Amino acid sequence: MKRDKLPIAVFVSGRGTNLQSIIDAIEAGRLDAEIRLVVSNRSKAPALQRCERHGIPYEVIPSKKFETPEKWGEALIEAVKRSGAELVVLAGFMKVVPANFIEAFKNRIVNIHPSLLPAFKGLEAQRQAFDYGVKLTGCTVHLVTPELDSGPIIAQAVVPVLPNDTPETLAARILEHEHRIYPQVVQWFAEGRVRVDGNKVWVDGARYGTLPFNPELEKF
Ligand code: GAR
Repeated sequence: MKRDKLPIAVFVSGRGTNLQSIIDAIEAGRLDAEIRLVVSNRSKAPALQRCERHGIPYEVIPSKKFETPEKWGEALIEAVKRSGAELVVLAGFMKVVPANFIEAFKNRIVNIHPSLLPAFKGLEAQRQAFDYGVKLTGCTVHLVTPELDSGPIIAQAVVPVLPNDTPETLAARILEHEHRIYPQVVQWFAEGRVRVDGNKVWVDGARYGTLPFNPELEKF
C-alpha cells in the first residue's frame, strides 16, 4: 500500500554521493521519503556540506566520544528515535553498527555494499573484486544484521569488469548503479512492498523483487 512520505535517517562517513542520490530522487519526486536526520561519525565528512546545501538536519555522533559500543549505540538510538525516522539508510557509513542499535531497529536498517554479496565483504570491495579477477561484480542493498555485510539481500545490480578497467574506473561504474538501486529500494519500503521472511526478502511477493535491469550486460 502506498503511503505519504517515509521518514528516514541516513548514516554517512564520507563524501556522501549515495546520500545525494537519495536527496535527488526525493527532490525529483521519484522517492516518497523525507530525510529527518543525517548522522555522521565524522565531523569533517563532506556529506555534511550536502546537508547544509539542502537544509537537511544532521548530527555528528563519533564512536570515539563514547566508552563502549553500547553507549555509542544508545546515543544513535536516541537520535534516530527523536527524529521519528522509521528506516535507517547506511550510505557509506564506515563503522560497524553497534548490536544494540541493530536490535532496536530490527529489519529497519539497510546498507549498500559495492560488491555482489556474499563475495568481497569489508573494505575496498571493488578493489578486492578487481584483484581477484572476477568477470562480473556489482553492488548489493541488504538488511543489516550483526554479522558484517551478511544480512538478507534486497536488490543487486551486476556490473561487468571490462578489459581496460582499473579499480578506480570499475568503482566509478559500480557507483552509478548504487545511485540507481538505492533510491529504488528505499522507494519499495516507502510503498510498503518489502516483506522479510527469515533471511529472504520479498518484494511484491516475489523472492528478489524486480531485479534492476542493467543495460551494460546487453553488450555481452
Ligand atoms: C559506496 O561505494 C558504498 O557502497 C561503500 O562506500 C561508498 C560510499 O560512497 N560502502 C561500503 O563499502 C560499506 N561496506 P558515498 O559516501 O559517496 O556514498
